[in-house]
Amino acid sequence: MRAPTPALPGIGDAGLTHESLELMLEAMRQALLGQRAPMAAPASAATLQTQVGACITAQGLGLQASLKLFTEVLSRQGVPTDHPGYLAYIGSAPTPEAALMDGLLSASGMIGSGWLGGAGLIWAENQALRWLADLAGLPAQAAGCFVSGGTAGNFSALVAARQRYRARGGGRDGVLLATEGAHSSIVVSAGLLDLEVVTVAADALGRMTAANLAQSLAALAAEGRSEHVVAVVAVAGSTNTGQIDELSGIGRIARQQQIWLHVDAAYGGAFLCAASVRDRFQGIELADSLIIDPHKGLFVPYDCCALLYAAPEEVPAAFTQDAVYLDRINASQACNPMHYAFHLSRRARGVPLWFSLAVHGTRAYQDTLEQVLALTERLRACIAEHPRLELIEASGLSVILFRRLGWQAPDYDDWAQRCLQEGIALVVPSEWQGQTVMRLCVMNPRLEEARWTRLLAML
Ligand SMILES: Cc1ncc(COP(=O)(O)O)c(C=O)c1O
Repeated sequence: MRAPTPALPGIGDAGLTHESLELMLEAMRQALLGQRAPMAAPASAATLQTQVGACITAQGLGLQASLKLFTEVLSRQGVPTDHPGYLAYIGSAPTPEAALMDGLLSASGMIGSGWLGGAGLIWAENQALRWLADLAGLPAQAAGCFVSGGTAGNFSALVAARQRYRARGGGRDGVLLATEGAHSSIVVSAGLLDLEVVTVAADALGRMTAANLAQSLAALAAEGRSEHVVAVVAVAGSTNTGQIDELSGIGRIARQQQIWLHVDAAYGGAFLCAASVRDRFQGIELADSLIIDPHKGLFVPYDCCALLYAAPEEVPAAFTQDAVYLDRINASQACNPMHYAFHLSRRARGVPLWFSLAVHGTRAYQDTLEQVLALTERLRACIAEHPRLELIEASGLSVILFRRLGWQAPDYDDWAQRCLQEGIALVVPSEWQGQTVMRLCVMNPRLEEARWTRLLAML
């Protein structure tokens, strides 16, 4: 009996017409050539409902009409993170090759969970992971996988830390040590893992120092809780300030006391490529687990976080899912990314990074990240010289924090709104030491001086 003709087209069969393919490729071409959403506030959900209406119908709208909705309306609402004026949060500026490979990855039909399903792609991902591990100076056996983002990476790393803690007889009442500068996902992860967060005092720049960590550990020891420590979480590039904790001293203490050191370099890790700041990361090589988000500073599209373990052999015990249909994979000695994080099905999301690195070479990455830092320095100097602005010393890597003399919180919000209305930049205020300040984060080497001159003129 012949197989029925499916109602839906499949990849590789005649359902995809030449015309459909050309339409989609043309839309892709336009996006890659820079036809993007303008810098503007997005419409409300109600406006979009009126403008677009119900799209999911029994008959389908067809490719042309559906694509038009995407290209002309939906993809134009919101601010693209690779816009040169995207200075809020942490932007991203993918290479066209990484973006295209992201599409090709989907078309390839491969799953990145286990070697059997996606050996070649996992092999490529592992090359990219190796490059990152070498940048950080992790040991030769370091390995891991790519997960969706820093939040997922932090969570999985802490699951692995708790696994070691339990394997050594640790019970309930586990403790994590972190400063207030640690990313919000650390507190959420601790909550999910039922761990208490003990806050280590930060120095004047918001960093964890070895001395302050030692003091917190001594206080725990005095309470008879030394055995309860699951991990120390250090930050290499704090989201709010760009500061890097005192990694060498922290790592030394962690080694001495046999405490798991997790380093969150989700934002800062990209700058390991930049020789001009590499020494600030000294000690990162002592991490038991490390995360770096290529979707922040390594020029790939969302969503992509590299999660690395110094001793990967003990990690699968934390994540391996016990199910009869998975027995063969679980028993195999091959590299299976599903065993290194809280996930099972996964796309090989590290492949666009591997591809972009393979195409452009690591020198282009180093040079571009140095350019990002140089641009940041020039903008920082303009702010420092501005008569109405005060640069905050804690600004590190590509983050700039500053005050506008005489302004209160609503004034910063007004300025941010005007910047967006005038199509200059997306900026959002933040806080430093309890006061509202402005925070800019430069991630795009295409940020123009004319843009920031307009921005500063409005202050
Ligand atoms: C230091 C740090 N850790 C973790 C995260 C969370 O990353 P994601 O948004 O990819 O989940 C961020 C995000 O900005 C970050 O800056």
